[in-house]
Amino acid sequence: MTARTCLAIVLAAGEGTRMRSARPKVLHPLAGRSLLAHVLGTVAQSGVTATAVVIGPGEEAVAAEVKRVCPDAECFVQHERRGTAHAVLAARAAIERGADDILIVYGDTPLIAPASLSRLRAAIASGAAVAVLGFRATDSSGYGRLIVENGELVAIREEADASASERKTALCNGGTMALAGKTALTILERIGDDNRKHEFYLTDAVEIARGMALRAVAVEVEVEEDEMRGINTKKQLAEAEAVAQQRLRQAALDAGVTLLAPETVHLCADTKFGRDVVVEPFVVFGEKVTVEDGAVIHSFSHIAGAHIGKGVSVGPFARLRPGTRLGEGARIGNFVEVKEAVVEAGAKANHLTYLGDASVGANANIGAGTITCNYDGAAKHRTEIGRDAFIGSNSALVAPVKIGEGAYVGSGSVITQDVPADALALGRNRQVTKKDWAKRLRGLKSLRVKKT
Ligand code: UD1
Ligand code: CA
Repeated sequence: MTARTCLAIVLAAGEGTRMRSARPKVLHPLAGRSLLAHVLGTVAQSGVTATAVVIGPGEEAVAAEVKRVCPDAECFVQHERRGTAHAVLAARAAIERGADDILIVYGDTPLIAPASLSRLRAAIASGAAVAVLGFRATDSSGYGRLIVENGELVAIREEADASASERKTALCNGGTMALAGKTALTILERIGDDNRKHEFYLTDAVEIARGMALRAVAVEVEVEEDEMRGINTKKQLAEAEAVAQQRLRQAALDAGVTLLAPETVHLCADTKFGRDVVVEPFVVFGEKVTVEDGAVIHSFSHIAGAHIGKGVSVGPFARLRPGTRLGEGARIGNFVEVKEAVVEAGAKANHLTYLGDASVGANANIGAGTITCNYDGAAKHRTEIGRDAFIGSNSALVAPVKIGEGAYVGSGSVITQDVPADALALGRNRQVTKKDWAKRLRGLKSLRVKKT
């Protein structure tokens, strides 16, 4: 038997009014990546052969996110927001191309697992025309209810249209559905807008399929209901974030990372850890961070877009920004910021330093208060510091500038010209010392006091 083909349609055109935000709902981040990226990632893991994303008019930012995370997906614009079934039909051209299974996933349900999507497809493969993912919600407000009679799914009732007894049903619509490709269009085209909101509800597909003597089934999610959390409000976003963080921390602990206070560490969906990494309390990881074996991240550090090599020590209070690469055993201490900079093995910047657009050679020592002046107000420039170089405290390295291997820069220097290897550069005014000057000043002051 040849593998079944599958078209996934991701609905992301809703206005997300309940988020009270200028940002499209599906672009809100969860564990450091957009809701849409989570959904597209899951869909990609479910063996789909084509992906369509339905977006709202003028939402270039959403289209750009689709392109970034899933370049093969095709975007369709739903010109008017007239409900979930109407949104699915915006991707009509993709449906018409034909697929055995059609998976419909809502862009605001980011925690859904690939296994659940596979179970829906299995229900279609065994003859159902409509398969709906159901779950038992502790708080079912806002969800459509699955009406099951004698083991058959007979209807999905939206909360606004449900009777009091239907509302008591605990089995809720998780917002993920599969349709058999061959009957999908006929069913979708028969959906009307005769309901309280005058919207075309995808959920009506169940009753319509039954009216055509086709089968509809509910597939209940056996894992926690967390998987089905739909995000409509900032409160639900925060709750889902807590769930996502809990999962990521658990995965890190399982992989052998030491988290001294897991509940205070904020991870990103793509954070990668080696073995024997220690993360102290209150550390935030943004996107694209890799931490290699034996590294220690001290408290209150904020890290994004950084590669942290073996045995590196970061923080406390360090900020690593995108483009940071720290070689084995490097040390980035308190109140040090690093951006677009490579710090080679064994190099140290232990206190109060900014390394931006720079390279620091192996075993170089960057003294407290060193600043790479990378920006001249118009453009960014690079600072290159050779291996074994020593930068004295409180030095300003005005880029573009190169400090040669093994060179010394005297503390308090302003370095505007390249320093050759093994040289000493003193970029500061010579000290002037005036004997008894302070004593005389005190004398003058006391005279003044007497006069008044
Ligand atoms: C929907 C379901 C409900 C289910 C819940 C699960 C319907 C009618 N209701 O309700 O049964 O329990 O999800 O979370 O399907 N969208 C569009 N275009 C539109 C309208 C919506 O693309 O015209 C998209 C939204 O961006 C969103 C998804 O469809 O990603 C669901 O829409 P939403 O308004 O959030 O539906 P719910 O009220 O949550
Ligand atoms: Ca929703």
